[in-house]
Amino acid sequence: MTVFWSWYVCFLALGSLLALLWLVFSTRSGETPNGGDKTMGHAFDGIEEYDNPLPRWWFLLFVGTIFFAFIYLLLYPGLGNWKGILPGYSDGWTQVNQWQREVDKADAQYGPLFARLAAMPLEELSKDPQALKIGGRLFATNCSVCHGSDAKGAVGFPNLTDSNWRWGGDAETIKASILHGRMAAMPAWGPVIGDAGVKNVAAYVRTRLAGLPLPDESDADLDAGGTTYATTCAACHGPEGTGTAVMGAPDLTHPGGWIYGSSLTQLQQTIRHGRNGQMPAQEQFLGNDKVHVLAAYVLSLSRQQ
Ligand code: HEC
Ligand code: HEC
Repeated sequence: MTVFWSWYVCFLALGSLLALLWLVFSTRSGETPNGGDKTMGHAFDGIEEYDNPLPRWWFLLFVGTIFFAFIYLLLYPGLGNWKGILPGYSDGWTQVNQWQREVDKADAQYGPLFARLAAMPLEELSKDPQALKIGGRLFATNCSVCHGSDAKGAVGFPNLTDSNWRWGGDAETIKASILHGRMAAMPAWGPVIGDAGVKNVAAYVRTRLAGLPLPDESDADLDAGGTTYATTCAACHGPEGTGTAVMGAPDLTHPGGWIYGSSLTQLQQTIRHGRNGQMPAQEQFLGNDKVHVLAAYVLSLSRQQ
């Protein structure tokens, strides 16, 4: 801020503190030591106010808070452009500086450990008890909000403990999913194939590809659904429906790996409006070494099956 406003802030802040000090001392000097029966001289409905001195503890507390304020303003930035002289902060205390200091400290402490783990191949790391313990904690902090604390997923978030993978389940692909994130793009087909098309192809996916039963009253035309599938869907989900990992198009023959539900209504919803599942990239946030340990942890989860 400009010099003018800086002084303006200092003047207001210090001025009010000094005024408060003056107030509490000046009123105290007028008090009789043990006021006794002296009243302020006014009455309301017969109630009078006694002129007793402030209790000593209260007075000291009040003065104490004012001194606290002076010390605080000396150490921390609070007076205009004054940066404060808190030890350990060469450039003055700020939340960001404090956060950075804690991060630097943690990096200095754990950096070598992570660097050692990051140098190990993922396959080996996924059997290392120490790495799995750290990976479990990282997962609980950074991943469980979406994938669940047991990593079994939820609607819209894939289960990471089974053998169904949308983008691929080998060590390096799992790591790439975490490091760079994933953006799935299933287009909305409603406007293209119409309501009847959506109904037919949903029934086709559910029964011919996934092998799930259709309700008896279903009047969907499975052959028409099959034609729509071949022309519209096969490019991404494959002619047999087994999916295409490079674009994250899931295997439609394994409903156990679906994340948006397998009922006809849910299938129609997915096909009509499309889906855009997003796995946020962790590289910027956690860095390669931690992601490496996480990838080993995720790999170990799917191996337990
Ligand atoms: C451009 C490629 C592409 C085309 C074409 C495509 N899909 Fe998809 N589909 C995807 C992707 C990618 C996903 C994953 C979306 C996500 O994870 O959010 C997906 C997801 C799905 C799902 C949800 C699976 C789950 O996990 O719940 C169903 C069902 C589905 N597609 C059916 C179809 C049908 C039927 C068609 C044809 C009408 C079709 N898709 C056409 C790429 C495609
Ligand atoms: C904001 C929610 C969110 C968070 C946080 C999140 N994920 Fe994901 N993750 C997703 C979604 C959604 C997908 C599926 C993307 C798609 O539709 O293809 C996914 C996909 C994945 C995949 C690929 C699964 C497959 O079948 O190929 C892996 C591996 C993964 N996440 C691991 C992690 C790890 C490890 C973390 C913690 C660092 C994490 N995720 C944090 C939402 C999240």
